Amino acid sequence: MGDDAIYATNDDAAMCKRFAVQQGYWKDPYIQFLVKAGERKAPEINRGYYARTEGLRSLMRQFLKLTHCACQIVNLGAGFDTNFWLLKDEGLLADVFVELDMRAVTSRKCHMIRTRSKLLEPVQASHGSEPVVIEDAELRSTHYHIMWADMRDLKQVEEKLGQVGLDKNKPTLFLSECVLVYMPLDKSNSLVKWAGTNFSSALILNYEPVNMGDRFGHVMVENLRKRTCALAGVEACQSLETQKARFLSNGWEGAAAMDMMSVYRSLPADDLHRIERLEFMDEREPLQQLMDHYCIAWAWRDVNKIGLESIGFNR
Ligand SMILES: C[S@@+](CC[C@H](N)C(=O)[O-])C[C@H]1O[C@@H](n2cnc3c(N)ncnc32)[C@H](O)[C@@H]1O
Repeated sequence: MGDDAIYATNDDAAMCKRFAVQQGYWKDPYIQFLVKAGERKAPEINRGYYARTEGLRSLMRQFLKLTHCACQIVNLGAGFDTNFWLLKDEGLLADVFVELDMRAVTSRKCHMIRTRSKLLEPVQASHGSEPVVIEDAELRSTHYHIMWADMRDLKQVEEKLGQVGLDKNKPTLFLSECVLVYMPLDKSNSLVKWAGTNFSSALILNYEPVNMGDRFGHVMVENLRKRTCALAGVEACQSLETQKARFLSNGWEGAAAMDMMSVYRSLPADDLHRIERLEFMDEREPLQQLMDHYCIAWAWRDVNKIGLESIGFNR
């Protein structure tokens, strides 16, 4: 799979998020400055993105509250993610929030931050009086960092995170939102193992396809392949069990996984009621199929026993 096809997956995700935000599924005043408006998306796609972003953000909030924000967040393959701004607006600013992606992606994101004051001002405000440094497709500030690295090269990842000065004894959350599946399994395993064995208190959140072995899964993989986007890491996406196993066999102490329909149903009932009235959906089957084929898996290693095991969804 060419790297161009990998970058394109970010544009696709960002456009879908922008469209769902426009429809009122959740609030994000920042995404409009990062990606142009795309085509209309079907209601089940919007609900899928709602469950994905709200589900992950719910776990991130639990981690930030548990650690009183004295923590580090590493967003692996962050693309045009806006969680730095959104969580900061909620008063949940981590000591360190670092994003990694390919240079072609970080370069565009840095350019947009530099040229759009609505993005730059909050970064500057959390930084101090010296100007935020944006150069060589990277951003450096007190709390927020954007660095480029090809995560298939673990040495490069370590070097870049070393430059940020990550503290391996500080609670650290790794987020990989629809990213590992684009990496060959041996490479994503090395990354997962590095994260799971080098930090004394760490949590990893992973949003990815699941149940790729069934008929619908085969069609999904085939459709992506036709768009020159092979899912190099699809082997780990066979079931919730294989999702958990990738963490448990790579140094993590405990793991859990839920399909997206279960995540969706566990989100606050009043908000579900609100979003279910946004768009009419004549059939439930497409939503069910989509939600059955994505999941959130999460894993923890908690040498210092700060309570990471308690993070999860109400079932
Ligand atoms: C589907 S997008 C998801 C972006 C973001 N996490 C989100 O969910 O909105 C996948 C992202 O992973 C990045 N990515 C994939 N493989 C990568 C690699 N080997 N090194 C760095 N970034 C990678 C892509 O460039 C892209 O931004």
